[in-house]
This record gives sequence, structure tokens and C-alpha cells, in this order.
Amino acid sequence: MNIFSTISDTVKTLDQYRNEGKAIGFVPTMGALHDGHLDLMRRAKKENDVLVVSIFVNPIQFNNPDDLKKYPRDLEKDKKSLEEINCDLLFSPEVNEMYPETVDYKYDFGKLENVMEGAFRPGHFNGVAIVVKKLFDIIGPDKAYFGEKDYQQLAIIKKLVEMENIPVQIVTCPTVREKDGLAMSSRNERLTAEERAIAPFIFQALNDAKSHINEMVPEEIKFRLQNQFADQPHFELEYFEIADDRELQPVINWNKAPGIRGFMAVQLGNVRLIDNIRII
Ligand code: PAJ
Repeated sequence: MNIFSTISDTVKTLDQYRNEGKAIGFVPTMGALHDGHLDLMRRAKKENDVLVVSIFVNPIQFNNPDDLKKYPRDLEKDKKSLEEINCDLLFSPEVNEMYPETVDYKYDFGKLENVMEGAFRPGHFNGVAIVVKKLFDIIGPDKAYFGEKDYQQLAIIKKLVEMENIPVQIVTCPTVREKDGLAMSSRNERLTAEERAIAPFIFQALNDAKSHINEMVPEEIKFRLQNQFADQPHFELEYFEIADDRELQPVINWNKAPGIRGFMAVQLGNVRLIDNIRII
């Protein structure tokens, strides 16, 4: 596996691949790799000639400095996982390489960024879009792979590709879960044993919401779920929304079916977790 920290080395090697007519599959990550990440990578490896992965904890997408400081990092372990799945090229730059100057570009994603993660994490998606655009410029992938775990991010990336006319195909991959239903996430590493034991409640609550669509309207389900979380001392529910799966706007009935999802963000101890499922 080629491991590069500079843009110039990466571009040079990728140009060679392209000259040889090889299709490039790309998976951008922030590291602390788990099976959710590896699932995207295995698929990218299978569907392309070359697998490129980036590991970069992107400071400008963190609206909470403490979250950035505590974000799990283990590059040596990640390199081993990448070797095992036959990754061809790892790009893992330092912050100065990606941002030699301050970036102040502002994207306008309209309605998409005014809800849920957009509303609760101001500036987050702008930071995601800036880094993903930069990574696409450097890597020039044919296909790029993103997880439904971060469903709103996926919608933002699709919009970014459309707005900037980026010649890349975005491939959507389903959420990979632990056996007990908890969505895999690098942040799960920061849960205490006690918190980890109760964390599956998030997925259980999403499934409970889904199981009541025949007798309740979205507002009633929201109320039910909020009450369930009010009874849970360790969780703080940030939001639960039932929204259409394209513009991610809250729905008041089931008329937009199929294409309605439930989205949730909770604080469990010091860790903020998100999850979502398809409802209809
Ligand atoms: P990160 O959280 O490391 O996630 C990298 C990719 O893995 C994203 O597309 C994410 O949706 C996917 N992923 C994470 N957990 C998953 C799971 N349990 N199942 C399936 N896919 C999962 O998302 C980011 O990094 C960053 O915002 C990034 C796009 C790299 C920009 O900095």
C-alpha cells in the first residue's frame, strides 16, 4: 500500500493509475476505522481497479472543540486494517497540507442544512463540503462511497456534486451495526462500559417508532419517542425527526411514502451519537 501525506505524491501516483486506464474507488474517512468503514472499502475495492482511502480528522467540520480534541485517532492500527483489505493508496495529510491558508468559503445547501445536523451543528456541513470537494479534486475518483449512517451528509454530498458538476458517482452504502443494533461509529470507542451496554436503546427506539406507523401520525410517534427518552436518565435526546428522504424536511403525514426516514441525535454521557432508519 502506498502511504502519502502530501498532495503532490498522491496526485502523481493517481495520474499513473489513470494513465493505465484504472478505475479509482475512493472512501474518505476520519480514521479510527471500524467494520462500517471497512464495508465501504471492500465494496469500493470490488467495484474498481484501485482503492484509495483518506484519513483526515477535518478540524473545520467540528463545531465543538472538545469533540475534535477527543476524536479517536490510531493511524498505526488503521494502516494494518487497510493492508488487510488490500487498499492501494492511503492519503493521510496533516492539517497544514490541506489548509495552508484559512478557508472562508460558504456553501448554500438551502433547506438541506437548516434541519437536524445542520441546525444543531452550525458550520458542520460547510466544513464537510469544503474537505470533500478538496479531496475529490486531489483524488479524482470515478466512484466515491458514503454510508447511510450519516444520511444527511450523504444528501449534502450529492447536492455538492450536482452544484459543482463534479464528475464522480456517489455510491450509497447501508449502515453497518453491531450485533445488538448499535450503529458502528468511531465515537462508540469513547463510551464507558455502562454507556455502551445501554446504547442499543437508540436503534430499539427507532424501530419502535417504525412499528407504530399504522396507528399513529408522525407527530404522535415523535411524542411517544420523546417520552421514552425522558424516562432514560443517561440519554439526552437532541432531536428526533420524521422526514422525507430527499430534502429531509419533516413530514406531518405518511403521504410522501415510500421515502420517509426517522433521524435521531442523542447525547449519551459525553458522546454525541446519531442514527437513522428507513420508516417507509
Ligand atoms: P467518518 O465518520 O470517518 O465516516 C467515513 C464514512 O464511513 C462516511 O461515509 C460514513 O457515513 C461511513 N460510515 C461510518 N459509520 C458507518 C456505519 N456504521 N455503516 C456504514 N457506513 C458508515 O463521515 C466522515 O468521516 C467525514 O465527515 C468525511 C466524509 C470523511 C469528511 O471529513
